[in-house]
Amino acid sequence: MSVNIIVAYSQSLQIGYQNELLCKLPNDLKRFKEMTQNNYVVMGRRTLESLPSVLSNRHNIILTRNKNYKSPTGTFVYHSLEEVIEKYHNHNADKQELWIIGGSEIYNQAMQYADKLYITRIEHQFEHADTYFPKIDLSQWRKIETVYNWADKDHEHDYTYLTYERKN
Ligand SMILES: NC(=O)c1ccc[n+]([C@@H]2O[C@H](COP(=O)([O-])OP(=O)(O)OC[C@H]3O[C@@H](n4cnc5c(N)ncnc54)[C@H](OP(=O)(O)O)[C@@H]3O)[C@@H](O)[C@H]2O)c1
Repeated sequence: MSVNIIVAYSQSLQIGYQNELLCKLPNDLKRFKEMTQNNYVVMGRRTLESLPSVLSNRHNIILTRNKNYKSPTGTFVYHSLEEVIEKYHNHNADKQELWIIGGSEIYNQAMQYADKLYITRIEHQFEHADTYFPKIDLSQWRKIETVYNWADKDHEHDYTYLTYERKN
């Protein structure tokens, strides 16, 4: 049972532009789906609105400060990240994982609560970006896995899976 951050960022920590992802990596999306399946996913209101639909087979938690926000059917709205983390640690009888899935505002606030970071580093710098992942303080994190993936006909750029766990 842990709080995980999952993100795809570029060599300069870019994560999005005009409320969209920077590129499509089908294998990474497949991995994202497998890892988050049947778990809790937490996202900011802007990330929800960037998705084509609510994420199926996952407990979608949406963060907004707007008390009147009408979120799509099947989602759960919260107004405080602290409350989500507190509830997760104290009421998670079924021992599911909690996945923080973005975007930038939520990553920034969630770093302090994360036990693990699942990063896909896209080996490229994009010309346009307006949202970024926070710089990681490597004194607090230990890298436990590196997996290199090469570009191919479906993946325009090389990409690397990097997994970190928090040092105790
Ligand atoms: N590359 C990746 O892995 C990845 C992953 C996810 C998203 N993205 C990209 O990131 C971009 C979106 O990121 P973003 O930073 O603009 O938006 P975001 O983090 O998705 O959402 C921001 C919104 O979340 C709500 N919020 C933030 N902190 C809150 C808090 N403490 N309590 C309650 N609500 C809170 C606010 O909603 P209200 O304004 O409604 O109050 C705020 O406007 C898009 O381009 C998306 O494609 C990339």
